[in-house]
Amino acid sequence: MTLLGETISTNGAKQEGEILSIRGGQPLSGTVEVKGAKNLVTKAMVAALLGEEPSVLRDVPDISDVAVVRSLLEVHGVRVDEGPERGSLRLDPQDVESAHFEEIDAHAGASRIPILFCGPLLHRLGQAFIPDLGGCRIGDRPIDFHLDALRKFGAVVEKQPSGIRLSAPRGLHGANIHLPYPSVGATEQVLLTAVRAAGTTELRNAAIEPEIMDLIAVLQKMGAIISYEPNRVILIEGVDSLRGYDHRAIFDRNEAASWAAAALATDGEIFVGGAKQQEMLTFLNVVRKVGGDFDIREDGILFRRGGELRGVTVETDVHPGFMTDWQQPLIVALTQAHGRSVVHETVYENRFGFTQALVKMGAQISVYPNGLQEGPRRVPRRSLEQAAVIDGPTPLHGADITVPDLRGGYSHVIAALTAEGESVVRNIGIIRRGYADFLDKLSALGADFDVIG
Ligand code: EPZ
Repeated sequence: MTLLGETISTNGAKQEGEILSIRGGQPLSGTVEVKGAKNLVTKAMVAALLGEEPSVLRDVPDISDVAVVRSLLEVHGVRVDEGPERGSLRLDPQDVESAHFEEIDAHAGASRIPILFCGPLLHRLGQAFIPDLGGCRIGDRPIDFHLDALRKFGAVVEKQPSGIRLSAPRGLHGANIHLPYPSVGATEQVLLTAVRAAGTTELRNAAIEPEIMDLIAVLQKMGAIISYEPNRVILIEGVDSLRGYDHRAIFDRNEAASWAAAALATDGEIFVGGAKQQEMLTFLNVVRKVGGDFDIREDGILFRRGGELRGVTVETDVHPGFMTDWQQPLIVALTQAHGRSVVHETVYENRFGFTQALVKMGAQISVYPNGLQEGPRRVPRRSLEQAAVIDGPTPLHGADITVPDLRGGYSHVIAALTAEGESVVRNIGIIRRGYADFLDKLSALGADFDVIG
């Protein structure tokens, strides 16, 4: 499978460059450009299924999650071509048809995005089959909110050994849905289903991440009527048909935060082209508290240390809180900070596994699987909460490590670049799920590495 010229296998891994030998201890300095956000682009591609005309999506990053969604769209008869400018896609859903089980099943375990095909496929075909989901192994990652919502819209959900079969014998109708937690994916599920359901849908306790607001913008361009009310309430008035869209994706703030953390960890200076302040306010506050510095410019943000790094306490949360996807790269920088840092993970129940590799490299990190009780907290404790306590600064040394998931894997590479000596980092393909041109960007920043397998 190819996406914008790269070779990618259906399990999401690029077929070359799986193992890196990294010689660390040098600052990373230079410029990287971030493109459209993985967590919007893949959803906007699914939204194209709902239209009766072709759509154009711009600033599509060259990542394997996009390749997986592209392939799944193609399996359902959506024609996907290069768009009018470099890095854009044209998605034509006019010949959407049911896919064969074997073709869909080839995507099992490759990504979590297929669950979002449910609503659009039910509207287009009256039925859907969703393969077993993949995505990062960072906790249970259930889909109960998704399935409960789909049932409220009138879908019949049948769990099968190899996936989920859905049908809508009487069509889909608007619903009143109150999410138990402001889940990003479940909010997207409701949006993508409600826009063409008969009648009005009221969604309470919705996620309001910038990528969700951008998906709402995409859907509005297609003809949807969606209003955003105070207190996480979203109202969707269903319409009979939707047209295509032409949209430039919001920038990837997770990638921007990752490179920022790399500048802090390695004591370098990285200009992140395309990064914008508004969507990163919470992250920027933490950068400042930890002793980092940044210059906001018209075309991006420059990150560097402002002096000695200091320990900090951070709690991950839904937007506008500190994103769970930011904590892994930040923790690498915190191993170089003076004093104690505490990171409370409140979104996923198992997202500190990557710290074991950092400990192997010399970091002092203790993980508390049931969280820490003491101390004032901004975010109320959740039952699935974990905490990591990082004492620094600790020199890191090279090690042989294996990437566990997307953000953890990125952190391993940055830790290897911060460490003195040579590291071998395996399973690099996972990082290409979410970081476009990863090795080229590392080279541009002066990283010293070889692809050895
Ligand atoms: C999205 O995952 C992102 N993935 C994640 O990005 C991100 O970490 C997460 O949102 C939070 O911002 C994509 O957009 C593809 P959730 P999602 O539903 O939608 C629980 C990355 O590295 N939950 O908001 O799957 C769930 O277990 C990644 O780019 C249920 O209990 O996240 C978790 O504890 C990884 N039942 C919490 O809600 C459900 O049905 C938040 O999950 C759904 C979710």
